[in-house]
Amino acid sequence: MRTIGVLTSGGDAPGMNDAIRAVVRYGIYNGVKVIGIKDGYKGLIDNDTMDMNLSSVADIIHRGGTILGSARCIEFKEELGFNQAIKNMKYLGIEGLVTIGGDGTFQGSKKLSDVGIPTIAIPGTIDNDLAYTQYTLGFFTALETVLDAISKIRDTSSSHGNTNVIEVMGRNCGDIALYAGLAGGAEMVILPEMPYSIEEVCDKIMQGRIRGKRHSIVVLAEGAGDAKTISKKIGEITKTNTKYSVLGYTQRGGTPSAFDRLIGSKMGAKAVSLLLEENYSRALGVRDGSVFDMDIVEALKTEKVFDNESYELTKILSI
Ligand code: ADP
Ligand code: F6P
Repeated sequence: MRTIGVLTSGGDAPGMNDAIRAVVRYGIYNGVKVIGIKDGYKGLIDNDTMDMNLSSVADIIHRGGTILGSARCIEFKEELGFNQAIKNMKYLGIEGLVTIGGDGTFQGSKKLSDVGIPTIAIPGTIDNDLAYTQYTLGFFTALETVLDAISKIRDTSSSHGNTNVIEVMGRNCGDIALYAGLAGGAEMVILPEMPYSIEEVCDKIMQGRIRGKRHSIVVLAEGAGDAKTISKKIGEITKTNTKYSVLGYTQRGGTPSAFDRLIGSKMGAKAVSLLLEENYSRALGVRDGSVFDMDIVEALKTEKVFDNESYELTKILSI
């Protein structure tokens, strides 16, 4: 394999740049030409690419976002756009492709591999919603960002004796809320995976107040409800001064954590080495600190198991 492409797609995630850097440098080290595709699958359709050299990825190891740009590209899901992308790949001489993104990006990667294009997929999304891997690239950086915000809100919350509802990202997967809630000492976490009642949340807050707590923190995943509505109800029932914050896109940016830099670098290099070994249609993942690869079809079939232990522990530790 002489020429490979690399793209980032879907919601960006800190650590994507580290993976791009590793693909480019490991590729060049092994005598491979690397083409950077701009804005995910959109760049394949529009033929919007850049030749990568060693300097193209200089000084990006500590930067959030993605130097290649990212996009949500509906056209790629359609036959016309998909066929145009394949035509352009052939024209550019791209013999193998590394895709970095979330579940949707993986579906695109699988579709390309179904028509015989060698692909390797790297999980890059802050949501941690790809079940086959313990962690996705960007998840731990986002978690640190959320924890930093919780600590700051905790300061003012305890000064004023408030109840604070903090809304974090996660439409279908509540992992950011779950782990930020546990590590941030929340009274309750509200997640899309777990039915909850507002009365149970308020009871927990009131029990804490009765035993002497001055303030309360509730972490809410965006997919489980709206912070403004929920905080209003909590305020009415508990009669505590209740405020809410929506952390939003701060969670998607920022310098990647040590962990995300490490796994980004390792997965980028591994992706190239799999292509060179002619071991295609693989999804990379992380388990117990090590990078592994598996068939992308099997990876996408894996169903997420909810971490009930962490959910229950959050409640126990905040009595
Ligand atoms: P993420 O990769 O973070 O889950 P999206 O779901 O938006 O983000 O997917 C990213 C992109 O992947 C989409 O904009 C589209 O170009 C491509 N994609 C998503 N689903 C499919 C699919 N079923 N077939 C082909 N391409 C897809
Ligand atoms: O990247 C995943 C994610 O951050 C989700 O948690 C969130 O709902 C979504 O992306 C929002 O992204 P956008 O507004 O770019 O579609």
